[in-house]
Amino acid sequence: MSLVCFPFKEEDVSVVVRNVECAASHTSVAGVLCVGFSKGETWHAIESAKPAIEHSTGKPVILLQQRRIGTSLRGGKGDGMNTALIYLLDNTEYKGLHFYDADIVSFSAEWISKAEKQADLDYDVVRHYFPRSSTDAMITWLVTKIGFALLWPNSILPVIEQPLGGELYLSKKAAEILIADPRVRDQSDWGIDTLYTFVMAQKGLRMAEVYVPEGKVHALYGGLQDLRKMLVECFAAIQSLRHEVIVAESRHRIENPRPVPETVKQKIGYDIEKTLKLLKSNWSPRQKDLLQQYFDPALAKGMLHSMEWPCWSFADEDAWISAYQKLLDHFEKGDFDWEELLFKIWVARVLNHTMKNVIRGYDVALGSLRDFVSETQHKAAIQLKASSAAAANIAAHPIASGHTAMEGLSNGHQSRRKTNWSNIGAASTVQ
Ligand code: LAC
Repeated sequence: MSLVCFPFKEEDVSVVVRNVECAASHTSVAGVLCVGFSKGETWHAIESAKPAIEHSTGKPVILLQQRRIGTSLRGGKGDGMNTALIYLLDNTEYKGLHFYDADIVSFSAEWISKAEKQADLDYDVVRHYFPRSSTDAMITWLVTKIGFALLWPNSILPVIEQPLGGELYLSKKAAEILIADPRVRDQSDWGIDTLYTFVMAQKGLRMAEVYVPEGKVHALYGGLQDLRKMLVECFAAIQSLRHEVIVAESRHRIENPRPVPETVKQKIGYDIEKTLKLLKSNWSPRQKDLLQQYFDPALAKGMLHSMEWPCWSFADEDAWISAYQKLLDHFEKGDFDWEELLFKIWVARVLNHTMKNVIRGYDVALGSLRDFVSETQHKAAIQLKASSAAAANIAAHPIASGHTAMEGLSNGHQSRRKTNWSNIGAASTVQ
């Protein structure tokens, strides 16, 4: 029997209470754990509903305030999820743990049943994925999936559908592996989903993805400003991993998707009018210097134009890849100007996607995002193959080439990453 965890902050109280009751009523569930960021209105509502739910289902509803587990980053979602992992491992009666966002209006017993069916086949991790609006998931697509494709193209990471998804099942073994990793314990902010997904692949956990056709009906965003903190923390999480190597093989199974419901196809993910203003805001002389010092001239020129009038045509796929690589090398989290540059370049890229692809319809928009990831993955894999061949050549002919293999290894930042890439080989398989 499993434990179900709902991490929460302040949510629509009736939705949370209904979801807790639904989870507690499930025949595969032995208890529900609600991990609160703080003791506010939602906490008290769950506390009041708890006796009746426990009475009607015969299962415990545990309310826990999240612990401060990370030491260097802001205390946020990561501390909440890690608090739940520790609870699971301290309470040995449960075989595994489900996580669901507390605010999902479309949550049902089926979400739990789908994950349990895969857990019965001994998958260590079961991840839910669902159809999303063509203007939603812009961090997932542009930061996480593109970063995974660039840095670990031969691993399973770029093909994981929703690597930032908060709906997943973890076996006890997966929970033990995750919480034993100091990088995971330290990632107390929005970067936690990136760390969980990365470590699952690096440790070669068996992973299944299940499809939830009705989608995740939850609150969407105002302007992209609402996503700034999440963007910065998710990018910094990828950046912190950029020198890591994946050699493990993961078994990965994915359920086919179904036709996307019209309600999801027609949904606009963010407020475009509010977002246009963001390109003009918060400029400083140093941001202009950084743009000119580190980024391609066409991107710098386009960004500087957008200070006067919103423009985005320069922020195409190639420009984003080029900027992404510069950001991987130079971005500094906590430095306002770097954060603002990352944010504004991403806003320009999202607007470019919206005006160039989304405007041509849902299928074109999603197709362009998928192609962007797979093209990036393919190019990175080709580059990796070429740099492995070059490294082998240098090792075989150190005198003729004028380099030793050691020189190749110690040649600074960029070549270190290339050396890491060459170690990846084609080790991971997708089955
Ligand atoms: C994402 C956030 C925006 O998945 O939900 O990108």
